Amino acid sequence: TRKIIIDTDPGQDDAVAILLALASPELEVLGITCVAGNVPLALTTKNARIVCELAGRRDVKIFAGCDRPLLRPLVTAEYVHGKTGLDGIALPEPTMALQDRHAVDFLIETLRAEAPGTVTLCPLGPLTNIATAFRRAPEIVSKVERIVLMGGAYFEVGNTTPAAEFNIYVDPQAAEIVFKSGVPLVVVPLDATHKALTTRPRIAAFRALNTPVGAAVASWTDFFERFDRAKYGSEGAPLHDPCVIAWLLRPDLFEGRFINVEIETQSELTMGMTVADWWRVTPREPNALFLRDIDAEGFYSLLTERLSRL
Ligand code: BDR
Ligand code: CA
Repeated sequence: TRKIIIDTDPGQDDAVAILLALASPELEVLGITCVAGNVPLALTTKNARIVCELAGRRDVKIFAGCDRPLLRPLVTAEYVHGKTGLDGIALPEPTMALQDRHAVDFLIETLRAEAPGTVTLCPLGPLTNIATAFRRAPEIVSKVERIVLMGGAYFEVGNTTPAAEFNIYVDPQAAEIVFKSGVPLVVVPLDATHKALTTRPRIAAFRALNTPVGAAVASWTDFFERFDRAKYGSEGAPLHDPCVIAWLLRPDLFEGRFINVEIETQSELTMGMTVADWWRVTPREPNALFLRDIDAEGFYSLLTERLSRL
């Protein structure tokens, strides 16, 4: 099994990613670290617990992390995710406890304690927690096996500004630290996730699982969809964050290039843009496997099959 830490701001698609990870025996979830993003920290920590309880996994360790980006004011996305961040179905108030330690301390202590190259980080939100841990304890950087993150866009440009994707836009300074860290990166940008659409039949397949998890995922994706259909006129909404977990399980479902990706932090106009050297027109060293394509059918059958186990 592969040891992972999920760093997240749930968010319906974050919630589905967490469920996919918990349903997959190939992965051991060492902890879930929460960050402010889609909604403020108090809600992302609450939502992570709702999701783990839904999966019957009160044993998962959940930590509260940074409540705002390194330098910029927090920008949230209730207009996408609803007021709670997890609108779509009413679920019970969580009763499982949050861990006492700060998420950044958990990241640092875990990476110090585990053998080098054995822990994979899976950020699904703004990169504030990871960047803070790297700044505070630079010696942990070389111990990370790999970072597989949802964020950025190149050919699909921005979903938050014309140039930037939400996770990178919210904390570009944190993203810059992570992208320059030297840790091997796998980047799942909008270029891949905008091809993983929740069509009506795919949502129906979640509902047909006939389980509490299936009902929740169907209602979340239904809720998510109302926004993207209106906005992009597509046949469904992209289910961004579960693509990160899917890459860990089935990298063969994706295609991309190992290239240089830098983060724009200077210009307000293009703040948070992931400048991807797709055509290798600079001598800059490649730092990221930038995924541009996904086998959407393969992804949804993997996801639905795994969710059926919960
Ligand atoms: C990303 O932003 C959030 O709204 C989603 O949870 C996803 O992580 C997509 O741009
Ligand atoms: Ca997210």
